[in-house]
Amino acid sequence: MSGVPRPPRGLPVRVAAGLAVLALAGCALVPGSVSPVDEVEFTHELPVPPLAPSRVVDGTRVFSLTAQEGTSELVPGVQTPTWGFDGPYLGPTLRAERGERVAVEVTNDLPEPTSVHWHGMHLPAAMDGGPHQEVEPGGTWRPTWRIDQPAATLWYHPHPHGQTEKHVYRGLAGLFLLDDDASVAADLPHDYGVDDVPVIVQDKVLDDDGTLELDDSGAEPGTLGDVVLTNGATGAYHDVTSERVRLRLLNGSTARTYQLGFPDRRMDLVATDGGLLEAPVEVDDVRLAPGERAEVVVRLEPGETTRLHSFEAELGGVVVPFAMGGNDAFDVLELRAADRLTPSPEPAWTPSAHAAADALHADDATVTRTFQLDDRQINGRRMDMGRIDETATVGTTEVWEVRSTVPMPHSFHVHDVQFRILSVDGDPPPPALAGPKDTVYLEPNRTYRLLMRFEDYTDPDVPYMFHCHMLWHEDQGMMGQFVVVEPGQEAGTDVDGHAGHH
Ligand code: C2O
Ligand code: CU
Repeated sequence: MSGVPRPPRGLPVRVAAGLAVLALAGCALVPGSVSPVDEVEFTHELPVPPLAPSRVVDGTRVFSLTAQEGTSELVPGVQTPTWGFDGPYLGPTLRAERGERVAVEVTNDLPEPTSVHWHGMHLPAAMDGGPHQEVEPGGTWRPTWRIDQPAATLWYHPHPHGQTEKHVYRGLAGLFLLDDDASVAADLPHDYGVDDVPVIVQDKVLDDDGTLELDDSGAEPGTLGDVVLTNGATGAYHDVTSERVRLRLLNGSTARTYQLGFPDRRMDLVATDGGLLEAPVEVDDVRLAPGERAEVVVRLEPGETTRLHSFEAELGGVVVPFAMGGNDAFDVLELRAADRLTPSPEPAWTPSAHAAADALHADDATVTRTFQLDDRQINGRRMDMGRIDETATVGTTEVWEVRSTVPMPHSFHVHDVQFRILSVDGDPPPPALAGPKDTVYLEPNRTYRLLMRFEDYTDPDVPYMFHCHMLWHEDQGMMGQFVVVEPGQEAGTDVDGHAGHH
């Protein structure tokens, strides 16, 4: 036990106990980390989720997705029972353009209720796929909405009440890419699966017979796996045939925060959760907490090989960073450049025709709300599906002041909107936090001021969620609900307090 720091005073007992368990486990493994990631050979071609087929019916682009059970070889030679959409693990990539009306026919072939939430999407609350829109086993659900937001790398995943961690961890997740005038005309790699590559990063624990295990010891911050998957494969490589490659990075893990970059080169950050930045920003790495995305463009020389790496994550003032994954460093994806590379232009784009209308202005904010996160509560409350915590009036611009008051990692996510981070502890955000966001890692004891506007889609009876995107925290009730109403209208009093499909 020597060298294991004691949890500081005042830490919740459950958390402290968890840390001690982790610390003990860590002594037997790698000093300095309780959650090391195994080294692997990079010999597996990166699987690229297929683009989902769709058909256009009466002007609506219709997709279908079936949540199902299956078996996957996540680790070579080991068969693991998994869940996926239209396959055994993960799901196809949906893709649509701004202005299009879409519909998704969701079928639940699982033995238990699930839901499909469109993370980052601006849409009516009844289409959002949260805990109020669960789909029973054998049931179907057909949300439809018009895409009305900038080009972005969004994603979809289940959101059943109290069961999100298990469903996502078993494999239910996929990307939803949006295009617009700016992204289509941009000088950015855009050949899907070739030089425009989805990179879904997730960590797992497999037991001896290959079954996916969730850490139920109560240890913070939840499950940190020793197996890291990229699009469902360990040790994946991708063959690069052009000078530049765009990586659409998604942290689809339950608890781990990654610090992704290349040890031997910088990269251009071009987009965050909700879309393109104003201009590319050269960065060494990007920190991604669960739920966050980033698009980066990387340059390669002919014939060379490099690896996307997760550096020791900068978690801010968390207690015992090594217990939170902060000392773990490992490779995620190998890029192998061909001997001859086709030229690719420098990343550049001009603003969308919608940019002025989309812009958020701090001067317009008329409402400020504060959100204090402790170990499992937001403003002293846990999730209650029958309670509306916040009521926003349509057309208003608001500032949400969010602060984690405990030395634990949290990842704050708001449904329906993309926000701008106005400041972090009063300072302007760093470039990686200056673009459109729907999820943000909260460094403990720092105040994040988020600017957002509730444009449309009023419904006093069906709420949107805000919550911690560390999935174990979320399932334990670190979540609240808000509705968007007409001026003068009140939140409904008959909000359905039960999960389930009506
Ligand atoms: Cu990605 Cu409420 O979730
Ligand atoms: Cu949390």
